[in-house]
Amino acid sequence: MLKQVTRQLALQGVRNFSVSQQNNYKVTVCGASGGIGQPLSLLLKQNPLVTDLSLYDIVHTPGVAADLSHIDTKSKAVGFMGADQLGESLKGSDVVVIPAGVPRKPGMTRDDLFNVNAGIIKDIANSIAKNCPKALVAIITNPVNTCVPIAAEILKKAGVYDPKRLFGVSTLDVVRARAFIGHALNVDPQTVQIPVIGGHSGVTILPVLSQSQPLFKGSQDVIEKLTVRIQEAGTEVVKAKAGAGSATLSMAYAGARFAGSLLKGLNGEKNVIECSYVQSSITEATFFSTPLVLGKNGLQENLGLPKLNDYEKKLLEAAIPELKKNIQKGIDFANA
Ligand code: NAD
Ligand code: LMR
Repeated sequence: MLKQVTRQLALQGVRNFSVSQQNNYKVTVCGASGGIGQPLSLLLKQNPLVTDLSLYDIVHTPGVAADLSHIDTKSKAVGFMGADQLGESLKGSDVVVIPAGVPRKPGMTRDDLFNVNAGIIKDIANSIAKNCPKALVAIITNPVNTCVPIAAEILKKAGVYDPKRLFGVSTLDVVRARAFIGHALNVDPQTVQIPVIGGHSGVTILPVLSQSQPLFKGSQDVIEKLTVRIQEAGTEVVKAKAGAGSATLSMAYAGARFAGSLLKGLNGEKNVIECSYVQSSITEATFFSTPLVLGKNGLQENLGLPKLNDYEKKLLEAAIPELKKNIQKGIDFANA
């Protein structure tokens, strides 16, 4: 028995090393001490592709780093605290994941976070431009629909913008859709495939249920209820937390999955596909989430719009004006 287990572990090791080409990436988490940042960093500490885990926040990172650095995985966790250590934390990063900023309380929209979070994204994007302009950047901070265009404008101004390297993280919408469909159909959610396109707030979140595999069948009423549940799932958590913030654990899981996919792509793995909110010419909205193939330079191929039925076409019509407004707000802020 022991022999068998050892052999299996060895095989796994051989597979890890033979598939991987570089296997030593630096990932920086900006906002590493927060509700998302801590569990996200814990999950990244366990990713075998990460050798350097850089933990940046304006508070508490020495403690978070000391704690994580006692975990027996190969990556080194180092904490950086305060604006004057931001540049150092970012230098040499291959991937930067950003959950820095304030979360919602009941009664607030994601857009209500703009006043505080837009400035945070602006500062971090400026430092990325100076310290790791080639990094793949994944923005979790809300409002995602607006924060990604802000970062794009800042990187443009610095002359380092590469649309293939900037991502808004909408993975939690996919994770939720898989969970809800899996439980409704009584199948393992991990086996469910479903594109969730558009943006990351209310009507801009467009789960394409007609393309789910296995197919989610139901009356139009059931389909509309599930669609709205996915669109409003963030608010469901905000209400349940009753003033103590928004989704953190499921977001950490989703963020670690997305960052892990970016790393797999960087490392040359084939067929790495994730939905993410990126600069796009697929619709009239200049940033839009669709399924993407991730590769050695980030976004390798945009797979475009999945086939939509008439109901989903209507959802898309509703999403576009809202997205355009959110995007313009970011562009105006960055250029003010
Ligand atoms: P939190 O308040 O628990 O943590 C935020 C962290 O950011 C804190 O540790 C804080 O010190 C840090 N921070 C503040 N200003 C900073 C700065 N200038 N530089 C670096 N760090 C800074 O909040 P949270 O629950 O972790 O949520 C963080 C953000 O993620 C919120 O904006 C929230 O709306 C968003 N969010 C997005 C998704 C998504 O699907 N994209 C899901 C959940 C939450
Ligand atoms: C979510 O979808 O859970 C996040 O965007 C956080 C929020 O404010 O809903």
